[in-house]
Amino acid sequence: MEKLKVIQVGTGGFGNAWLNALKNHPEGKIIALVDTNPEVLKQQAAASGIPAEHCYASLSEALKKEKADILVNVTPPQVHRKVCAEGFRAGLDVITEKPLADTMESARDIVDQAEKYNKKIMVSQNYRFSPWAWTIKKILSEKFADNIGYVTILFQKGPRFGGFREEMPYPLLIDMSIHHFDLIRFFTGSDPVEVYAKSYMPGWSWFKGDPSANVIFTFKNGTVCSYNGSWAAKGIETPWNGEWRLECGGGVLLSRDDKIFLSAGAENPPAEIIPEQYPLAGQQYTFHEMVRAIREKRQPQTNGADNLKSLGMVFAALESAKTNKPVKIQ
Ligand SMILES: NC(=O)c1ccc[n+]([C@@H]2O[C@H](COP(=O)([O-])OP(=O)(O)OC[C@H]3O[C@@H](n4cnc5c(N)ncnc54)[C@H](O)[C@@H]3O)[C@@H](O)[C@H]2O)c1
Repeated sequence: MEKLKVIQVGTGGFGNAWLNALKNHPEGKIIALVDTNPEVLKQQAAASGIPAEHCYASLSEALKKEKADILVNVTPPQVHRKVCAEGFRAGLDVITEKPLADTMESARDIVDQAEKYNKKIMVSQNYRFSPWAWTIKKILSEKFADNIGYVTILFQKGPRFGGFREEMPYPLLIDMSIHHFDLIRFFTGSDPVEVYAKSYMPGWSWFKGDPSANVIFTFKNGTVCSYNGSWAAKGIETPWNGEWRLECGGGVLLSRDDKIFLSAGAENPPAEIIPEQYPLAGQQYTFHEMVRAIREKRQPQTNGADNLKSLGMVFAALESAKTNKPVKIQ
């Protein structure tokens, strides 16, 4: 089948991940690049072999000249709304990097615009699309019938990003925790009804906004989830997925250093579960899922409307942190 044509908007740090993911993808190819930073654009064009005449400083210009099917948006969160809207208006389906947007208002508007123009919007929640996550999900449904009592997540990193993350308010909750919160929804198969959060700034932090938070969610199905995350860790870091402990009626699932251990009841010693391998994962799987959804005329997984629930967890946690009160989630 013919490969779908892609315009990639944003070729900075994480732009690389998308350039690599689509380099030899069986279902798509990048035909044009857009970046408002001419230096970055030039460098990435040279590295990826996209000819200079298909590289643009403005998305409007690119959309006038290029005939594409899908826009991949890898710009900072505060410009997602504008970039997505231009894509829909030009008749393209859009895959956007997480977070869908930097505010709930912008996120809802993106979903509304997609509907108005009858286009698809998928958020690349790539943490769901890994052998690690698929294996945990499979064990939870097959062995524990999704009977999850409580979940504990520890996420500790100390990255020196520079750039927008060190300037923005609440960088951990808005730019990172969205992955973990979305994973909780994926694993529990349920949506949250209440959150209580404390966001804070350790004395040595190099971020302008709080890089650390402790958050407790209660889910519709009764699961209680306790999250302790930080981007200001001074060592002994966890993996990007974090460390997870899922306590279920029939036993416990533990993820430590991305290794999964299963103990089916106290009398059974924990056994390591080796994840199955899958042909596509991460951004490559995101793209595959979007192509399948277009061809099958259905919504993709982690589509915008679904993702509003994950992003809603972020902004409800923020509201709770700001008011120091539990917040109900609809
Ligand atoms: N899924 C993941 O695991 C993951 C990891 C890192 C980053 N991200 C996400 O990817 C997105 C980009 O992050 P990054 O680290 O690459 O940021 P970055 O700042 O390194 O790169 C963003 C690029 O977008 C360009 N840009 C800004 N406004 C633009 C516009 N209006 N039109 C065209 N180009 C524009 C900038 O010049 C820059 O080159 C963010 O939403 C971030 O949260 C996701």
